[in-house]
Amino acid sequence: MSAIGFGAWAIGGPFMARGKPAGWGQVDDEESVAAVHRALDLGVTFFDTADVYGTGHSERVLGRALSGRWDEVVIATKFGLTFDAATRALTGQDISPGYIRQACRASLERLGTDHIDLYQLHVADAPMEQVDEMVATLEGLVDEGLIRAYGWSTDDPERVAAFAKGPHCAAVQHNLNVLHDAPAMLAVCDTHELASVNRGPLAMGLLTGKYGPDSRLPMDDVRGDSPAWMTFFKDGRPAPEFLAMLDAIRDVLTSGGRTLAQGALGWLLARSGRTVPIPGIKTVGQAEQNAGALLHGPLEAAQLAQIDEVLQRHAR
Ligand SMILES: NC(=O)c1ccc[n+]([C@@H]2O[C@H](COP(=O)([O-])OP(=O)(O)OC[C@H]3O[C@@H](n4cnc5c(N)ncnc54)[C@H](OP(=O)(O)O)[C@@H]3O)[C@@H](O)[C@H]2O)c1
Repeated sequence: MSAIGFGAWAIGGPFMARGKPAGWGQVDDEESVAAVHRALDLGVTFFDTADVYGTGHSERVLGRALSGRWDEVVIATKFGLTFDAATRALTGQDISPGYIRQACRASLERLGTDHIDLYQLHVADAPMEQVDEMVATLEGLVDEGLIRAYGWSTDDPERVAAFAKGPHCAAVQHNLNVLHDAPAMLAVCDTHELASVNRGPLAMGLLTGKYGPDSRLPMDDVRGDSPAWMTFFKDGRPAPEFLAMLDAIRDVLTSGGRTLAQGALGWLLARSGRTVPIPGIKTVGQAEQNAGALLHGPLEAAQLAQIDEVLQRHAR
């Protein structure tokens, strides 16, 4: 599996959550398919999606792009959030055994494949009391050959440790990027020998350097009408404190001819042997630039230390 993956949230197109846009605006499916193909050509073989992205559309587009190439890839998707495809809206959550089994079959159908490599719980704060029941259901799906492994998309180390009791729990998906370190999450991955799949590796685009203090994201973009949980964009604009942090480390990230995005991905590759960043990609150009980070490789340990010092983070 490639050291850098492909995040497929944006290619799902528009959908709504609690009355606000939850997608990344309009996307062109032909461009999305071309971006997946370009990523594959450049050695990217790990693809992360969710049933809810575009209320099923991301899985369908990805399935179309990967058709005939399933042997080359590792596919990850998610379950637990419910949605109505007719209104393209999220409706709630369900982690009951019956729903998990139904959601798994629906994802397989939309993707057009016979198994999911990594099946991830999408409900970050699902109750601990339901962990044993979920693990038993997921182990059942492994036994049936419908999934190979499972994990939790959460930023809570305790929840990760509880899920890791399951024999086929292989990964956690969590927030990690050069502006937001997560040592406790990486430590729990070490303890339980889990892969650390990194969402938001480019701080939702802020780390690419293309957004400045005057940028205003469109209202049909999840960043445009920013929900309360979002840290890197506030009121539709990049958060000034993160732009200042980016400015402070710009020179280190762009060392060796890297673009800012490649430097941000290089930081993640260097941060731990378990990290697998999954930058969200919408276009062929983004696929090319992000895959280019594989050629540049990880930043050096001294550069990580320099970044910690500049950002006044405690040395590890
Ligand atoms: N709860 C969860 O499980 C969860 C939550 C969040 C994300 N994820 C997963 O993690 C993936 C990545 O996280 P993310 O989408 O939040 O954010 P991200 O990867 O930090 O940023 C992605 C965005 O940055 C821009 N971009 C990407 N590469 C670029 C490049 N080379 N040059 C310029 N702009 C570039 C694109 O948007 P613009 O061009 O519009 O700026 C893209 O959609 C998602 O696709 C999804 O698979 C999961």
